[in-house]
Amino acid sequence: MCGIFGYIGKKNHAAEIVLDGLKKLEYRGYDSWGIAVKKGTTIKRERHVGKIGAAKTKLPVSNLGLGHTRWATHGGVTIGNAHPHVDCANTLCLVHNGIVENFRPLKEKLVKKHKFLSETDTEVALHLIESKAQKQPVARALRVAFNQVTGMNAFIVLNAKKDELLAVKNGSPLVIGVGKGENFIASDLWALLDHTNRVIFLEDGQLAQISAGQVKLFDAASGKALKPQVKRLDWQAQQSRLGRFHHFMEKEIYDQPKILDDLSRLSPGTIASVTRLIKKADKTFLLGCGTASYAALFGEYLLNFSGYDAQAIVGSEFQKFARLLTPKQAFLMLSQSGETIDVVDAVNLAKKKKMRVVGITNVLGSTLYRKSDLKILLGAGQEVAVASTKAFTAKLAILTQLAYQLNGNLDEAKKLIAQAARATQGLLSGKVRADIKKLATKIKDEDDIFAVGRLTSFPIALETALKIKEVSYAHAEGYAGGELKHGPIALIDQGTPCIVIAPKDQSLTDSLSAAHELKARGGLIIGISPQNDPVFDVHFKVPDLKEASAIPAAVIAQLLAYDIAVARGLNPDKPRNLAKSVTVR
Ligand code: F6R
Repeated sequence: MCGIFGYIGKKNHAAEIVLDGLKKLEYRGYDSWGIAVKKGTTIKRERHVGKIGAAKTKLPVSNLGLGHTRWATHGGVTIGNAHPHVDCANTLCLVHNGIVENFRPLKEKLVKKHKFLSETDTEVALHLIESKAQKQPVARALRVAFNQVTGMNAFIVLNAKKDELLAVKNGSPLVIGVGKGENFIASDLWALLDHTNRVIFLEDGQLAQISAGQVKLFDAASGKALKPQVKRLDWQAQQSRLGRFHHFMEKEIYDQPKILDDLSRLSPGTIASVTRLIKKADKTFLLGCGTASYAALFGEYLLNFSGYDAQAIVGSEFQKFARLLTPKQAFLMLSQSGETIDVVDAVNLAKKKKMRVVGITNVLGSTLYRKSDLKILLGAGQEVAVASTKAFTAKLAILTQLAYQLNGNLDEAKKLIAQAARATQGLLSGKVRADIKKLATKIKDEDDIFAVGRLTSFPIALETALKIKEVSYAHAEGYAGGELKHGPIALIDQGTPCIVIAPKDQSLTDSLSAAHELKARGGLIIGISPQNDPVFDVHFKVPDLKEASAIPAAVIAQLLAYDIAVARGLNPDKPRNLAKSVTVR
């Protein structure tokens, strides 16, 4: 969602530094953007609708700047609604991530004395800060205003009168980058890495006062000074580069063999600590959103097969379980970003219920990572494309190891994951790759595409459909094979593409029956299976890797979705209306 980047320090090209920071945040998804710098004691700013692209900034030299990429919530996509917003005196500007839930009553009071220039809730918060700052320093005014607004918000104020950036948050992520004679702030760790590896993760309810040489931290409720905890990142987190690929989605699909191979060597100690927790627990909940929710569902099947009571929950629906949660249950939270608001809400609730939380995430230092009792890193490297690919298969690889370890078979799981890595490599070149492209060209104009699978292939069918619809905008649906007769088969027409995921497990016969039913209604049957079958019009052969067969099947689906998007002339990296990290409800 919205991206934030701020700079204060010894360099006088703050606008360029901020613009560069915003470019690194582009992958999160946005519809407009803006930058502001301090000029004397006032603010100069520029705002735009659309993508940054090759934009250069014409803002004056300055050592203090702040920028924002906006993903519209309150108010349309217009220049007037783009951040930063400025106060009536043009000495304060504000960028914001989140939603001020009580903006209406606040605005009713403020509108008498303040000039509103946008439809945003952000501007309401800014004028609230401005009104409070009439009688006290801006840092204190921000604190008082923050305590008055409701909702999950991150606010960053540029105070041109005092050379300072002020930040406070509740929910939305913010990281301060600590430099020498300069400091940075961003909504995303990746944007800071070119500048520094010393960071302070701002926690909920903390307020930071940032000057060129110092970061002061306060408790936002009481105003009490806190000691900033500077963390030195000792990992090689590199900003992802496109290299020889056309899109990040393509690159990230191709990253998978190496990631899977690395995961096949994941420390047994890490796996064992989580399985000990699952064994002790009365029940294990697995939670995620979107693609991660399908990984959670895959985990539910695997844990149940291993004899453990497990239930997958879609993040946004977790409240229905609120009264059922007890300290005797375990919670596995799956999130690439570790910042998805529904996941963070669920972690907070689980902690309140004194449950042990396992965070399975790709981002070290993310909110999920920090709040979890046990942590497993996906180790997939930065995922830039909005549609998740490599983080999904990484989660499948980890969940497979957890399930096998529950029955003392970790070595077998590791072998299967290593084989899945090799199988994936085999799909990425040669005939299979060419055949997937050919199929994409053939079905690119189809409006409806179906994917079916049973048992552990059901979540893969759901993910197949999600991937296709996200990046190609074709209507795609995933179904459990056995459900077709209960309604969806009515949609099958002459030539409708039907992807049937049929691994060699107990569901094979039933999956092939489903394929026959679809074919009898005219469906074009695309089989992903270890063995060919006369019912398949197109067959993609994958090895029989037991539960890990899901991995190459998912990779074929990702490639097909990517190819359909490209064949339709779309940019799969930045699908319309979608943001990479969903940090508002
Ligand atoms: C789909 C996709 C989304 C995310 C979802 C959760 O391709 O990317 O469905 O999976 O928004 O995101 P994380 O995993 O960051 O919590």
